[in-house]
Amino acid sequence: MSHYRSAPILPGVAFITGGARGLGLAIAQSFAKEGARGVVLFDIQPSDTMAAARASVEQFLIPSGKCLTIHGDVTQESALEGAMETVVREFGRLDYAANFAGVVGPLGVTWETGVEEWRRVIEVNTVGVWLSMRAELRVMLKQEGIAGVETGRVEQKGAIVNCASVNSIQGGAGTTGYTASKHAVLGMTKSAALEARGEGVRVNCVSPGFLLTKLLEPAMKVAEGETTAKLTGDAWEMYERRQGRKASFEEVGDVVALLCSPRMSLVVGANLSIDNGFTINENPT
Ligand SMILES: NC(=O)c1ccc[n+]([C@@H]2O[C@H](COP(=O)([O-])OP(=O)(O)OC[C@H]3O[C@@H](n4cnc5c(N)ncnc54)[C@H](O)[C@@H]3O)[C@@H](O)[C@H]2O)c1
Repeated sequence: MSHYRSAPILPGVAFITGGARGLGLAIAQSFAKEGARGVVLFDIQPSDTMAAARASVEQFLIPSGKCLTIHGDVTQESALEGAMETVVREFGRLDYAANFAGVVGPLGVTWETGVEEWRRVIEVNTVGVWLSMRAELRVMLKQEGIAGVETGRVEQKGAIVNCASVNSIQGGAGTTGYTASKHAVLGMTKSAALEARGEGVRVNCVSPGFLLTKLLEPAMKVAEGETTAKLTGDAWEMYERRQGRKASFEEVGDVVALLCSPRMSLVVGANLSIDNGFTINENPT
């Protein structure tokens, strides 16, 4: 008898906020590659971006698999509740969730930052993750785990991965809003993980390093009335040197998907760095 594990390790249904592009889309593709029968992309992007994202996931899906897009805002309770109704109506259950919708928010020193833009980054990155997690937990807690994926382990009814950041561990001048929002993601991940661990749902978060996604485009442009961009090419190169190399979106996608596997059964409330050693590197190179 062979002892190799060969069946798909993620045969269930995945829901990804911020799934229309960047890291969220890479995560959706990784779920498809690992055999998910359903992949749902929740985002505020326009319909053409959503359609392109869906097509890029479909190329990796198993023949009977299905990818759905749902247009919605993570700061709206009703949008997430509606999304969960759609997921359950379409697939009957929700097994894996990655909460990756996020914004950078205001970049600048505290004394020059307006309260409304500061509140907005907390609203999307923190309240949005909490609302997503709450909606997902309400579905996951009601179901049984998928039988036969990892025999002999505790039952996994569901797994949730929240998106933190290097800024959940470190700070950066000019990023009070973003840093506060990501520290909060880490805090709520720990507490929710303890609430849900006895109920068969694992909650964790990840902290990606530096990836040049569209998230950073506003920071790399020279804003009106300014002479340099907030985030210059030099600063970016310095981050990458400290990180050791450029990172690819797929490298983040795979970690998030695999973290949802029941093979990770003892990993609860963790903040997993996906940064090639950036955070543990005391040197700039
Ligand atoms: N790129 C990096 O270097 C990096 C590093 C660490 C953490 N992150 C985090 O990764 C996550 C994904 O960012 P990304 O880099 O892929 O950027 P991205 O801008 O390409 O993706 C973010 C997605 O979130 C969506 N979104 C934003 N606000 C939303 C809302 N209110 N409701 C629904 N969707 C919304 C956007 O439309 C977009 O598709 C973010 O939480 C970000 O903070 C990124």
